[in-house]
Amino acid sequence: MSQKIRAIKGMEDLYQTETLKLWRFVEQSARDIFGGAGFQEIRTPIVEDAALFERSVGEATDIVEKEMYTLLDRNEKRLALRPEGTASVVRAFIEHFTSHQILEAKFYYLGPMFRYERPQKGRYRQFHQIGAELFGTDHPLSDVEIIGLTFRLLTQLGLTNIKLKLNTLGSSACREKYLAALKDFLQGIHDKLDPATQARVQRSPLRVLDSKDPEVQKLLKQSPSILDFISEEAKEHWQQVQAGLKRMEIPFELDERLVRGLDYYEKTVFEITAEGLGAQNAVAGGGRYNRLVKDLGGPEVPAVGFALGMERLVSLLQAKNLKLPKRRRLYALGLEENSEQILFAELTKLRQAGFIAQMDFGSGSLKAKLKRASRWDADFVLILGESERDKGVVILRDMHASTQKEIPISELVTSLKI
Ligand code: HAM
Repeated sequence: MSQKIRAIKGMEDLYQTETLKLWRFVEQSARDIFGGAGFQEIRTPIVEDAALFERSVGEATDIVEKEMYTLLDRNEKRLALRPEGTASVVRAFIEHFTSHQILEAKFYYLGPMFRYERPQKGRYRQFHQIGAELFGTDHPLSDVEIIGLTFRLLTQLGLTNIKLKLNTLGSSACREKYLAALKDFLQGIHDKLDPATQARVQRSPLRVLDSKDPEVQKLLKQSPSILDFISEEAKEHWQQVQAGLKRMEIPFELDERLVRGLDYYEKTVFEITAEGLGAQNAVAGGGRYNRLVKDLGGPEVPAVGFALGMERLVSLLQAKNLKLPKRRRLYALGLEENSEQILFAELTKLRQAGFIAQMDFGSGSLKAKLKRASRWDADFVLILGESERDKGVVILRDMHASTQKEIPISELVTSLKI
């Protein structure tokens, strides 16, 4: 027997109807929320030039150094499966928008990302993100817009136990001074650090703050604070972001250790965590990146964005037993030819109004027809016979309550919509 070919470890098939319904519902909610705030959809290729991520996410990050899927095409060009969406959206923005002097734009995107991480609960090698990127302004309220829309999406979907953590990294200019002070501090405690952390001090000192090691975290209590180094302008920005969130009544916690695992950020960074995800508790993250468009060859355009992990979000919603709004199902029974004609015309209107509606074309008694309706799981049955037709009404039978009433045919759509 030949050997079975299996799905790649950490990459999952999605085939369960109920799970897929939930995915579509989350995707539609995101489209509604971001579309409603003036964001347009963008779909970029899954494969990009590997250099795109090296120059944006950063060569010294785990994502690029250890997790990126790279490959050579037949022409020996180095490609990468995208590990995240921001760099691709920035590339596309430079290519199609800034080249036409359009320096402001807002995008949202949905799709698979790839990171060669050790698979575990909530961590996959192919996972899906919903994200948004807002280009063209450094206004603190645009940070609040991104954080606020993300927060609203999650709460509107029914998540309650979520925590928004916020930090500022200062602007790139003030960060240099801070990084020098941090490096000094870390070199001072060099001997107390393990070899992996010692190596990190040299290559990316900021990421040491992110250490999961409680011993390292204890030592870091004395480390210099970014707030002592940031410029007046960055401080003002930071305060405005907090004031905006407070005014929108979005609760947040300040977390000076929050640095994020990607290199392009400055000023505001944030993460949303949720209970019930275990170790992989970040559902969403993002922040401001004012230099990236320029670093990737575009003009100087500030930007801010976020991304959330679909698998994590869906597993939280499943644990909460989220009930999806269900489209109501109508089954129409005409008891003689003329009644069928009238009802059939009504069906089109009902479908346009958002109902799932179908007509019974089968033979048999009323009882047999009702049985078919119930087998199809109808919420309502519409019954029209000669006497109802003479009165201009239709019988509306509620299949769950087993009750029925007459309503004027002309009011069918409006009375059902309520
Ligand atoms: P990130 O924090 O690397 O940010 O990823 C965002 C979210 O993707 C995480 O909070 C998590 O829910 C999900 N995620 C990441 N890795 C995995 C994985 N291996 N398995 C399952 N879910 C995962 C970014 O990617 C930035 N591009 C966000 C951003 C947009 N910043 C500015 N604009």
